[in-house]
Amino acid sequence: MADKKHYISRSESRAIAKENSRAIRHFEKLKKRKCKPEEYTTVMQDDHNIVEFDDLHTYFFSDAGTVKAVNGVSFSIPEGSTVGVVGESGCGKSVTSLSLMQLVQAPSGQIVSGSIRFKASLFKRDARGRKIPVYETVTDADGKEQFKLDAKGRKIIKKNELGGNVYEMEDRVVDIAKMPVDAMRSIRGREIAMIFQEPMTSLNPVFTIGNQLDEVGLLHIQGISKAQVKAHSIDMLKLVGIADPEGVYKKYPHELSGGMRQRVMIAIALLCNPKLIIADEPTTALDVTIQAQILDLLREIKGKINGSIMLITHDLGVVAEMADYVVVMYAGKVIEMGTAEDIFDRPLHPYTIGLQKSKPTVNEDVEKLYCIPGFVPNPIDMPNYCYFRDRCEKCIEKCAGEYPGYIQVTPTHKVACYLYENAKEDGDAK
Ligand SMILES: Nc1ncnc2c1ncn2[C@@H]1O[C@H](COP(=O)(O)OP(=O)(O)O)[C@@H](O)[C@H]1O
Ligand code: SF4
Ligand SMILES: [Mg+2]
Repeated sequence: MADKKHYISRSESRAIAKENSRAIRHFEKLKKRKCKPEEYTTVMQDDHNIVEFDDLHTYFFSDAGTVKAVNGVSFSIPEGSTVGVVGESGCGKSVTSLSLMQLVQAPSGQIVSGSIRFKASLFKRDARGRKIPVYETVTDADGKEQFKLDAKGRKIIKKNELGGNVYEMEDRVVDIAKMPVDAMRSIRGREIAMIFQEPMTSLNPVFTIGNQLDEVGLLHIQGISKAQVKAHSIDMLKLVGIADPEGVYKKYPHELSGGMRQRVMIAIALLCNPKLIIADEPTTALDVTIQAQILDLLREIKGKINGSIMLITHDLGVVAEMADYVVVMYAGKVIEMGTAEDIFDRPLHPYTIGLQKSKPTVNEDVEKLYCIPGFVPNPIDMPNYCYFRDRCEKCIEKCAGEYPGYIQVTPTHKVACYLYENAKEDGDAK
């Protein structure tokens, strides 16, 4: 290790570039392939989950080497729950969620291996790949069901409550990590929606709020008329607590406050009634009072849409308020997970304990806030021992060995740390 150099020679750089272009070609070809849905159809390990990440690896093939941004992540999101994903900046939270949306920055970023199982409801397709509409029927004089016809003798497609066409659907568990880009389009936005950290960069400054809401509605709800989509957009603005929805509909993003813009982003996410909302640091760009309002809104909405939320944040306070389950990430791996009580009342991993200690509290008189010593290891050159070892104050002899496996401390609480090897299932490890 002593002679480790901090530069890349020309021949090394050439070798990296060659290897990168080979890998990128391979993964891009896989994403663009034409294949039958059966190829990426799978089954859930537990039917109560909406998403299951299973040993997910997402890498960036950079000029300096391969960045293992997500390096073997496994966790689930149970239906109807809020799962908080916490960890300091750069630990792979956003890349995990972007993998779920197939939005990792390509071509350098690629899902390399693992699975993301998602319980989807997809459009049924005919032999030519077209959606199959459901038609209006009437019962004739003989009691037989007949198709209802319009003035020109054509069958009439059934409409849903919003005015969109009704198509035949099927429930299917898909592996998003293996899905081609084309197939993903019918899930992204419709079944899984995302709320980003900075609404100003996600909203287009040259279009009105109404334009941007309508555009999403028209894209995902086939057969809806312009008047119907406008009414639906205004309803969504009402749902997210905007007092003057007709006024805001006509405004441009710069005319709104940060909190209002984030509400608009939430309205856009809700347009297609998604089953899962990913909120990536949804309150980080907002001031504290507005933060609380947006969190209240998210909680309220989760109840209304009967869906699940994956809440990404570096702020433990936010997860404490919102989450049912918590996943703690460090350097591209999940190092501890459990229910919110497990993580807040009985944190086990020295990193989680460090995070808790570095959280400011209102009632305690602390002179200096705790700071976890040291730095996250270089993502291009990860050690083969515990990634936290060089910062860990509780390190034991065994920690020099290979990366620790998970220890199931209680049925709900798991940790990857050698300190708890003798604490399996007794829940009393300290
Ligand atoms: N587009 C990119 N190109 C190269 N590396 C990236 C890119 N996006 C993220 N990374 C790297 O992936 C790692 C995880 O990033 P990210 O998931 O954004 O962290 P966070 O937990 O703060 O959301 C970081 O080391 C980051 O440098
Ligand atoms: S495995 Fe060892 S080095 Fe890693 S967090 Fe646990 S005690 Fe610290
Ligand atoms: Mg992030």
